[in-house]
Amino acid sequence: MIFAALLFAGCGNSGGKKGTFAAGDKTFLLNGKPFLVKAAEVHYSRIPKEYWENRIQLCKALGMNTLCIYIFWNYHEMEEGVFDFTGNKDIAEFCRLAQKNGMYIIVRPGPYVCAEWEMGGLPWWLLKNDSIQLRTLDADYMNHVEKFMAEVGKQLGPLQITNGGNIIMVQVENEYGSYGIDKPYISAIRDIVKKSGFDQVPLFQCDWSSNFTNNALDDLLWTVNFGTGSDIDAQFKKLKELRPNTPLMCSEFWSGWFDHWGRPHETRPADVMVSGLQEMIEKNISFSLYMTHGGTTFGFWGGANNPAYSAMCSSYDYDAPISENGQVTPKYMLLREMMQNHLQEGETLADIPQQIKAVAVPEFQLTEMADVFDNLPQAIETEDIKPMEKFNQGWGSILYRKQLDANVNKGTEVKITEVHDYALVFVNGNKIAELDRRKGEFSFVLNEDLKQGDILDIYIEALGRVNFDKSIHDRKGITESVTIGGTELKNWQVFLLPLDYNFALNKKYSAVKSTNKPAYYKGEFTLDKAEDTFLDFSTWGKGFVWVNGYALGRIWQIGPQQTLYMPGCWLKEGKNEIVVLDILGANEPKVQGLDKPILDMLRVAVPQTHRKDGEKLNLTKEQPVIAGELKNVSAPQTIEFAKPVSGRYLCIEALNNFTGDNITSLAEVDAFDKNGKLINRKDWSIVYADSEETRSGEYTADKLYDLQESTYWQTVDNVAFPHAVVIDFGKNETIKSIRIIPRQEKGNPGLIKEFRIFVKDTEFLK
Ligand code: GLA
Repeated sequence: MIFAALLFAGCGNSGGKKGTFAAGDKTFLLNGKPFLVKAAEVHYSRIPKEYWENRIQLCKALGMNTLCIYIFWNYHEMEEGVFDFTGNKDIAEFCRLAQKNGMYIIVRPGPYVCAEWEMGGLPWWLLKNDSIQLRTLDADYMNHVEKFMAEVGKQLGPLQITNGGNIIMVQVENEYGSYGIDKPYISAIRDIVKKSGFDQVPLFQCDWSSNFTNNALDDLLWTVNFGTGSDIDAQFKKLKELRPNTPLMCSEFWSGWFDHWGRPHETRPADVMVSGLQEMIEKNISFSLYMTHGGTTFGFWGGANNPAYSAMCSSYDYDAPISENGQVTPKYMLLREMMQNHLQEGETLADIPQQIKAVAVPEFQLTEMADVFDNLPQAIETEDIKPMEKFNQGWGSILYRKQLDANVNKGTEVKITEVHDYALVFVNGNKIAELDRRKGEFSFVLNEDLKQGDILDIYIEALGRVNFDKSIHDRKGITESVTIGGTELKNWQVFLLPLDYNFALNKKYSAVKSTNKPAYYKGEFTLDKAEDTFLDFSTWGKGFVWVNGYALGRIWQIGPQQTLYMPGCWLKEGKNEIVVLDILGANEPKVQGLDKPILDMLRVAVPQTHRKDGEKLNLTKEQPVIAGELKNVSAPQTIEFAKPVSGRYLCIEALNNFTGDNITSLAEVDAFDKNGKLINRKDWSIVYADSEETRSGEYTADKLYDLQESTYWQTVDNVAFPHAVVIDFGKNETIKSIRIIPRQEKGNPGLIKEFRIFVKDTEFLK
């Protein structure tokens, strides 16, 4: 028996025929024959294991022949050195299921993956090391990468096509061009990936067309990522020049986009997505549709973007063709129809499998409650404030308590450097402030006197760790210090409040009463049948939900998401148990199940534009640093100043455009110092934009530095030129050049023709 098990593990594939996959002349070759990769990106961690096969079959019935998957390091190594590839984390099983259904696999094992996933897939415990430099050759980091990759190799190496499995390609790192320039690092990751066993299929690196050459290695395949609506020929222009004979692939064609708490729900038009895919098929360009099925970011796995800090919603519906709960959408049907007409030799279109429907569940109450403050764990004494990683906690909340040594007068400033991510401040149990990192709220002024001996409590809830750019070094809790009137407070008691089901259960529960403090709520509901539903939390505040011990995800009244996807496979016939942590206190602790999600109910007034009523920029007295004309191309363009200039504010004025309409549109702006070094954009903000289109989408000026080429600033079509935007660097900078990236759609819509650039120490409006 043992012998047989070992034999099977050693063989490790589902008994398929051994094959080959390679890059040929302008095409991929599967078993020596030309092959177009039509891949569906799906994430095993965002789908309950019980539904994996259903979702795979839904992708297959779209006409896809491959599944593209990230491997999420932190999901498998939650605790340093303890690897888990079982249950929902059984990646080999996922690949075998795909093979059973006739699908190939592209593996993207990171180590960094982005994906709107906590810390881009990197484990939080790496941040216990104060000086670690993630995604560099830092010895500590690389040592852990190597161990992780070896484990992935053990799981998936045997499933390469040459062994009879279905893995045809493996990615090295992820869009490193948007992080830095470091070929030695990328080379080292490539070597680790190979050493872990991925040495029989092509390895590739994916990037944006504007930056893929930064870290391109000669012996890897190069693919590019871009979104719905992009000018496809322009995206591949440079790649074709450099490698005329390489097979072309868009390794991430963004079907939709992800949602942030407190921002409008994102969608992208179906017809534009389908025509882009059709164009690629007709031009023999392989693709992966990111996402084909987004699913749900369950538990605490959602990431965040920065700047400005902005955490991701729990739903990862992505406006993808297959909805969050596996339903076929109009986008799906339109795509399927096109794919049906573009089958490769030997391919047939599979039938759409039965869809797992969501049903309504009558409203029920959560009847018991446990106040967090009445149930605190053992205190830890610390002289200095430290983030939660230093106390060996990965996720959840942390309470910093201090008995005041002296009286403090009303009007004094309390400064928390920095709040990561949401602070509730109490004095003697009464809430006196709420600070939100998304809004840059790190201080407040006391509007009452405090007395010596008063108890100051700072409760900090951590949201997702940043998953993009250098801000992935995102420690949680209070990162540095707390000062009152400029004096740092020392000697704290710290209480650790992990997001852990047993920790939440193990409290003294009693009858529900009204509160505005953090509390756990508990209840039961009875079902005749265990079926999918969407639990509606629109009467709750902000927090986290478990059902039958499964961590469903975060909730937040501001929306746009108001429901949590509740897979029926995690429910039971009969009694089910629900526990909710609400850090603001629930308005009404009740829940009902809906048969459809609510993903677009934003309940907060977002300052969508960056211009106050009546505000107008007057540049008549200003001297431009440079004036000129851009080229009518979609490639990045650098504007060199005659000499370096210092200032905190950068104003870009557009006098007209190439298309002859009213619109100005730009995807990204970068600034460089006199040595050509890129200036970090983490503290940038927008002071002013004369016009921003927010009716048809979210085209606000902060998109200029969100590090995403597929999002952009666009002015409203009936507002005439000139247009202008003022960027605040956050501090004085000396700059020698700026680089702009136009929108990537055909015809360079809204591309500025004549421009003027201004740099100043003071805001232009004052
Ligand atoms: C990039 C990343 C992906 C994902 C998308 C946006 O392309 O590579 O992981 O973050 O952006 O959804």
